[in-house]
Amino acid sequence: MKSIKGIILAGGYGSRLYPLTLGVSKQLLPVYDKPMIYYPLSTLMQAGIIDILIISTKNDISKFEKLLGNGTNLGIKLSYAIQENPNGIAEALIIASDFILHENICLILGDNIFHGDNFIHNLEKAKVNLSQGYSTIFGIDVENPNDFGVIELNSKNKIKKIIEKPKTDFGSLIVTGLYYFTNDAIKIAKNLKPSLRGELEITDINNSFLNQDKLKLIRLNSEIVWTDTGTYNSLISASQYFKDYEIKYSKKIACIEEIAYRRGYIDEFRLKEIAQSMINSDYGKYLNNLAINED
Ligand code: G1P
Repeated sequence: MKSIKGIILAGGYGSRLYPLTLGVSKQLLPVYDKPMIYYPLSTLMQAGIIDILIISTKNDISKFEKLLGNGTNLGIKLSYAIQENPNGIAEALIIASDFILHENICLILGDNIFHGDNFIHNLEKAKVNLSQGYSTIFGIDVENPNDFGVIELNSKNKIKKIIEKPKTDFGSLIVTGLYYFTNDAIKIAKNLKPSLRGELEITDINNSFLNQDKLKLIRLNSEIVWTDTGTYNSLISASQYFKDYEIKYSKKIACIEEIAYRRGYIDEFRLKEIAQSMINSDYGKYLNNLAINED
Protein backbone atom coordinates (compact mmCIF):
# COMPACT_ATOMS: atom_id res chain seq x y z
CA MET A 1 0.00 0.00 0.00
CA LYS A 2 1.18 3.52 -0.75
CA SER A 3 2.09 5.77 2.13
CA ILE A 4 0.78 9.31 2.53
CA LYS A 5 3.20 12.19 2.38
CA GLY A 6 2.23 15.53 3.86
CA ILE A 7 2.58 19.01 2.42
CA ILE A 8 2.00 22.23 4.35
CA LEU A 9 1.75 25.24 2.09
CA ALA A 10 2.77 28.32 4.04
CA GLY A 11 3.42 30.74 1.18
CA GLY A 12 1.82 33.91 -0.08
CA TYR A 13 2.21 37.51 1.06
CA GLY A 14 -0.64 37.46 3.58
CA SER A 15 -1.60 40.83 2.11
CA ARG A 16 -5.06 40.77 3.70
CA LEU A 17 -3.24 41.04 7.03
CA TYR A 18 -0.90 43.95 6.18
CA PRO A 19 0.89 45.48 8.08
CA LEU A 20 0.95 42.41 10.40
CA THR A 21 2.61 40.33 7.70
CA LEU A 22 5.03 42.88 6.27
CA GLY A 23 7.84 41.56 8.46
CA VAL A 24 6.73 38.02 9.24
CA SER A 25 4.99 35.21 7.41
CA LYS A 26 1.28 34.86 8.16
CA GLN A 27 1.72 31.22 9.20
CA LEU A 28 4.20 32.27 11.91
CA LEU A 29 1.79 34.71 13.54
CA PRO A 30 0.48 33.65 16.94
CA VAL A 31 -2.83 31.90 17.37
CA TYR A 32 -3.14 32.24 21.14
CA ASP A 33 0.06 30.68 22.50
CA LYS A 34 1.67 29.07 19.49
CA PRO A 35 2.62 29.88 15.91
CA MET A 36 -0.20 29.32 13.42
CA ILE A 37 1.65 26.52 11.59
CA TYR A 38 1.51 24.32 14.72
CA TYR A 39 -2.20 23.80 14.02
CA PRO A 40 -1.98 22.34 10.50
CA LEU A 41 1.17 20.47 11.51
CA SER A 42 -0.70 18.92 14.43
CA THR A 43 -3.52 17.89 12.07
CA LEU A 44 -1.06 15.95 9.93
CA MET A 45 0.67 14.41 12.95
CA GLN A 46 -2.67 13.27 14.38
CA ALA A 47 -3.47 11.73 11.02
CA GLY A 48 -0.26 9.71 11.38
CA ILE A 49 1.47 11.60 8.56
CA ILE A 50 5.05 12.13 9.66
CA ASP A 51 7.01 12.74 6.45
CA ILE A 52 6.15 16.33 5.66
CA LEU A 53 7.32 19.02 3.24
CA ILE A 54 6.84 22.64 4.27
CA ILE A 55 6.65 25.07 1.36
CA SER A 56 7.10 28.79 1.87
CA THR A 57 8.60 31.87 0.23
CA LYS A 58 12.32 32.48 -0.27
CA ASN A 59 12.26 35.10 2.49
CA ASP A 60 10.39 33.02 5.05
CA ILE A 61 11.53 29.43 4.59
CA SER A 62 14.55 29.83 6.91
CA LYS A 63 12.24 31.06 9.70
CA PHE A 64 10.15 27.90 9.50
CA GLU A 65 13.35 25.86 9.55
CA LYS A 66 14.53 27.73 12.62
CA LEU A 67 11.20 27.07 14.33
CA LEU A 68 10.77 23.38 13.50
CA GLY A 69 14.14 22.04 12.31
CA ASN A 70 14.30 18.68 10.58
CA GLY A 71 11.61 17.24 12.83
CA THR A 72 13.92 15.06 14.95
CA ASN A 73 12.69 16.82 18.08
CA LEU A 74 9.19 15.62 17.25
CA GLY A 75 10.21 12.21 15.99
CA ILE A 76 9.03 13.12 12.50
CA LYS A 77 10.71 14.11 9.24
CA LEU A 78 10.40 17.68 8.00
CA SER A 79 11.79 18.98 4.71
CA TYR A 80 11.54 22.41 3.16
CA ALA A 81 10.99 23.86 -0.30
CA ILE A 82 10.52 27.32 -1.77
CA GLN A 83 7.63 28.63 -3.80
CA GLU A 84 9.34 31.44 -5.74
CA ASN A 85 6.14 33.33 -6.58
CA PRO A 86 2.54 33.14 -5.36
CA ASN A 87 1.50 31.07 -8.38
CA GLY A 88 -1.34 29.27 -6.64
CA ILE A 89 -1.95 26.38 -4.30
CA ALA A 90 -1.83 23.73 -7.01
CA GLU A 91 1.78 24.70 -7.77
CA ALA A 92 2.69 23.18 -4.39
CA LEU A 93 2.04 19.75 -5.93
CA ILE A 94 4.55 20.43 -8.71
CA ILE A 95 7.13 21.80 -6.26
CA ALA A 96 6.62 18.73 -4.08
CA SER A 97 6.72 16.15 -6.86
CA ASP A 98 10.31 14.98 -6.11
CA PHE A 99 9.34 14.62 -2.47
CA ILE A 100 6.06 12.82 -3.11
CA LEU A 101 7.47 10.43 -5.75
CA HIS A 102 4.84 7.69 -6.16
CA GLU A 103 3.08 8.08 -2.83
CA ASN A 104 -0.31 9.56 -1.99
CA ILE A 105 -0.66 13.12 -0.77
CA CYS A 106 -2.21 15.05 2.09
CA LEU A 107 -1.99 18.78 1.43
CA ILE A 108 -2.97 21.29 4.09
CA LEU A 109 -2.89 25.06 3.88
CA GLY A 110 -0.79 26.65 6.60
CA ASP A 111 -3.60 28.97 7.68
CA ASN A 112 -6.30 26.31 8.03
CA ILE A 113 -7.19 25.28 11.56
CA PHE A 114 -9.43 22.33 12.35
CA HIS A 115 -10.59 21.35 15.79
CA GLY A 116 -13.12 18.90 17.17
CA ASP A 117 -13.21 15.63 19.05
CA ASN A 118 -14.33 13.59 16.07
CA PHE A 119 -12.26 15.33 13.48
CA ILE A 120 -9.65 12.59 13.28
CA HIS A 121 -12.32 10.05 12.24
CA ASN A 122 -12.88 12.09 9.11
CA LEU A 123 -9.19 11.78 8.28
CA GLU A 124 -9.40 8.02 8.75
CA LYS A 125 -12.26 7.92 6.22
CA ALA A 126 -10.21 9.93 3.74
CA LYS A 127 -7.38 7.43 4.16
CA VAL A 128 -9.75 4.59 3.29
CA ASN A 129 -10.91 6.55 0.24
CA LEU A 130 -7.28 6.87 -0.90
CA SER A 131 -6.74 3.13 -0.58
CA GLN A 132 -9.72 2.71 -2.95
CA GLY A 133 -8.31 5.21 -5.45
CA TYR A 134 -10.42 8.23 -4.45
CA SER A 135 -9.29 11.70 -3.47
CA THR A 136 -11.18 13.54 -0.73
CA ILE A 137 -12.13 17.11 0.04
CA PHE A 138 -13.70 18.30 3.30
CA GLY A 139 -16.69 20.61 3.10
CA ILE A 140 -18.18 22.86 5.75
CA ASP A 141 -21.01 25.39 5.80
CA VAL A 142 -19.95 29.00 6.36
CA GLU A 143 -21.58 32.42 6.38
CA ASN A 144 -19.26 33.95 3.77
CA PRO A 145 -19.02 31.14 1.19
CA ASN A 146 -18.05 33.34 -1.73
CA ASP A 147 -14.63 33.99 -0.14
CA PHE A 148 -13.74 30.33 -0.76
CA GLY A 149 -14.12 27.45 -3.18
CA VAL A 150 -17.88 26.78 -3.15
CA ILE A 151 -19.37 23.32 -3.65
CA GLU A 152 -22.49 23.24 -5.77
CA LEU A 153 -24.57 20.15 -5.06
CA ASN A 154 -27.03 18.43 -7.40
CA SER A 155 -30.49 17.19 -6.43
CA LYS A 156 -28.96 13.95 -5.11
CA ASN A 157 -26.65 15.91 -2.79
CA LYS A 158 -23.63 14.95 -4.86
CA ILE A 159 -21.05 17.48 -5.99
CA LYS A 160 -22.04 19.11 -9.28
CA LYS A 161 -19.04 21.38 -9.47
CA ILE A 162 -16.71 23.52 -7.41
CA ILE A 163 -16.47 27.22 -8.14
CA GLU A 164 -13.56 29.29 -6.85
CA LYS A 165 -14.71 32.51 -5.13
CA PRO A 166 -17.91 32.86 -7.18
CA LYS A 167 -19.63 36.19 -7.81
CA THR A 168 -23.10 34.65 -7.61
CA ASP A 169 -24.49 32.38 -4.89
CA PHE A 170 -24.22 28.59 -5.07
CA GLY A 171 -24.94 27.80 -1.42
CA SER A 172 -23.01 27.87 1.83
CA LEU A 173 -20.93 24.71 1.52
CA ILE A 174 -17.25 25.41 0.90
CA VAL A 175 -14.04 23.44 0.41
CA THR A 176 -11.65 23.67 3.34
CA GLY A 177 -7.89 23.77 2.82
CA LEU A 178 -7.20 20.09 3.47
CA TYR A 179 -6.95 17.70 0.56
CA TYR A 180 -6.25 13.98 0.41
CA PHE A 181 -5.09 13.32 -3.13
CA THR A 182 -4.05 10.23 -5.00
CA ASN A 183 -0.69 10.59 -6.73
CA ASP A 184 -2.54 11.55 -9.96
CA ALA A 185 -2.81 15.08 -8.54
CA ILE A 186 0.79 15.75 -9.59
CA LYS A 187 0.10 14.89 -13.22
CA ILE A 188 -3.08 16.98 -13.15
CA ALA A 189 -1.21 19.94 -11.63
CA LYS A 190 1.51 19.74 -14.26
CA ASN A 191 -1.12 20.04 -17.01
CA LEU A 192 -3.03 22.96 -15.47
CA LYS A 193 -3.25 26.37 -17.11
CA PRO A 194 -3.20 29.45 -14.86
CA SER A 195 -6.62 30.95 -14.08
CA LEU A 196 -7.64 34.51 -14.94
CA ARG A 197 -5.99 35.68 -11.71
CA GLY A 198 -2.78 34.00 -12.90
CA GLU A 199 -2.77 31.11 -10.42
CA LEU A 200 -2.74 27.32 -10.67
CA GLU A 201 -6.01 26.72 -8.86
CA ILE A 202 -6.54 23.90 -6.38
CA THR A 203 -10.20 24.07 -7.42
CA ASP A 204 -9.18 22.97 -10.94
CA ILE A 205 -7.47 19.90 -9.45
CA ASN A 206 -10.62 19.09 -7.47
CA ASN A 207 -12.83 19.54 -10.52
CA SER A 208 -10.53 17.32 -12.56
CA PHE A 209 -10.87 14.49 -9.99
CA LEU A 210 -14.62 15.16 -9.92
CA ASN A 211 -14.90 14.85 -13.71
CA GLN A 212 -13.11 11.49 -13.52
CA ASP A 213 -15.54 10.43 -10.78
CA LYS A 214 -12.60 10.11 -8.39
CA LEU A 215 -13.53 12.73 -5.80
CA LYS A 216 -15.31 12.15 -2.50
CA LEU A 217 -16.71 14.81 -0.22
CA ILE A 218 -16.66 14.52 3.55
CA ARG A 219 -18.95 17.07 5.13
CA LEU A 220 -17.71 18.32 8.49
CA ASN A 221 -20.51 18.61 10.99
CA SER A 222 -21.25 21.58 13.20
CA GLU A 223 -19.23 20.12 16.09
CA ILE A 224 -16.08 20.73 14.12
CA VAL A 225 -14.54 24.14 14.28
CA TRP A 226 -12.79 25.31 11.14
CA THR A 227 -11.15 28.58 10.43
CA ASP A 228 -9.00 30.06 7.71
CA THR A 229 -7.08 32.64 9.69
CA GLY A 230 -6.66 35.08 6.85
CA THR A 231 -8.28 38.19 8.33
CA TYR A 232 -7.79 40.30 11.47
CA ASN A 233 -11.08 39.08 12.88
CA SER A 234 -10.61 35.38 12.21
CA LEU A 235 -7.10 35.60 13.66
CA ILE A 236 -8.26 37.12 16.91
CA SER A 237 -11.37 34.95 17.23
CA ALA A 238 -9.26 31.82 16.71
CA SER A 239 -6.89 33.00 19.48
CA GLN A 240 -9.81 33.67 21.78
CA TYR A 241 -11.40 30.30 21.01
CA PHE A 242 -8.23 28.35 21.84
CA LYS A 243 -7.52 30.45 24.92
CA ASP A 244 -11.02 29.75 26.28
CA TYR A 245 -10.85 26.07 25.37
CA GLU A 246 -7.40 25.48 26.83
CA ILE A 247 -8.25 27.22 30.08
CA LYS A 248 -11.61 25.46 30.42
CA TYR A 249 -10.24 21.97 29.81
CA SER A 250 -6.66 22.49 31.12
CA LYS A 251 -5.50 20.94 27.90
CA LYS A 252 -3.55 22.33 24.99
CA ILE A 253 -4.69 22.04 21.40
CA ALA A 254 -2.17 21.60 18.58
CA CYS A 255 0.60 21.01 21.10
CA ILE A 256 2.92 19.25 18.67
CA GLU A 257 5.29 18.00 21.37
CA GLU A 258 2.44 16.44 23.32
CA ILE A 259 1.06 14.79 20.19
CA ALA A 260 4.55 13.49 19.34
CA TYR A 261 4.83 12.07 22.84
CA ARG A 262 1.36 10.52 23.01
CA ARG A 263 1.75 8.94 19.59
CA GLY A 264 5.10 7.49 20.61
CA TYR A 265 7.19 9.53 18.16
CA ILE A 266 9.34 10.78 21.05
CA ASP A 267 10.09 9.42 24.50
CA GLU A 268 9.68 11.01 27.92
CA PHE A 269 13.33 12.02 28.03
CA ARG A 270 13.01 14.09 24.84
CA LEU A 271 9.75 15.62 26.08
CA LYS A 272 11.48 16.73 29.29
CA GLU A 273 14.37 18.20 27.33
CA ILE A 274 12.02 20.23 25.16
CA ALA A 275 10.04 21.34 28.21
CA GLN A 276 13.23 22.56 29.91
CA SER A 277 14.28 24.50 26.82
CA MET A 278 11.18 26.71 27.19
CA ILE A 279 10.49 26.39 30.89
CA ASN A 280 10.06 30.16 31.31
CA SER A 281 6.82 30.03 29.35
CA ASP A 282 3.51 28.52 30.38
CA TYR A 283 3.79 26.33 27.30
CA GLY A 284 7.09 24.90 28.56
CA LYS A 285 5.61 24.43 32.02
CA TYR A 286 2.67 22.54 30.50
CA LEU A 287 5.08 20.17 28.73
CA ASN A 288 7.08 19.76 31.90
CA ASN A 289 3.94 18.82 33.84
CA LEU A 290 3.10 16.23 31.22
CA ALA A 291 6.52 14.69 31.54
CA ILE A 292 6.42 14.74 35.37
CA ASN A 293 2.95 13.22 35.51
CA GLU A 294 4.11 10.30 33.43
CA ASP A 295 6.89 9.50 35.93
C1 G1P B 1 -7.99 28.68 -0.86
C2 G1P B 1 -8.67 27.90 -1.97
C3 G1P B 1 -10.17 27.79 -1.71
C4 G1P B 1 -10.42 27.20 -0.33
C5 G1P B 1 -9.64 28.01 0.74
C6 G1P B 1 -9.73 27.33 2.10
O1 G1P B 1 -8.38 30.03 -0.91
O2 G1P B 1 -8.40 28.55 -3.22
O3 G1P B 1 -10.77 26.98 -2.69
O4 G1P B 1 -11.80 27.21 -0.06
O5 G1P B 1 -8.26 28.11 0.42
O6 G1P B 1 -9.04 28.05 3.07
P1 G1P B 1 -7.48 31.21 -0.28
O7 G1P B 1 -7.94 31.35 1.13
O8 G1P B 1 -6.06 30.77 -0.39
O9 G1P B 1 -7.79 32.41 -1.10
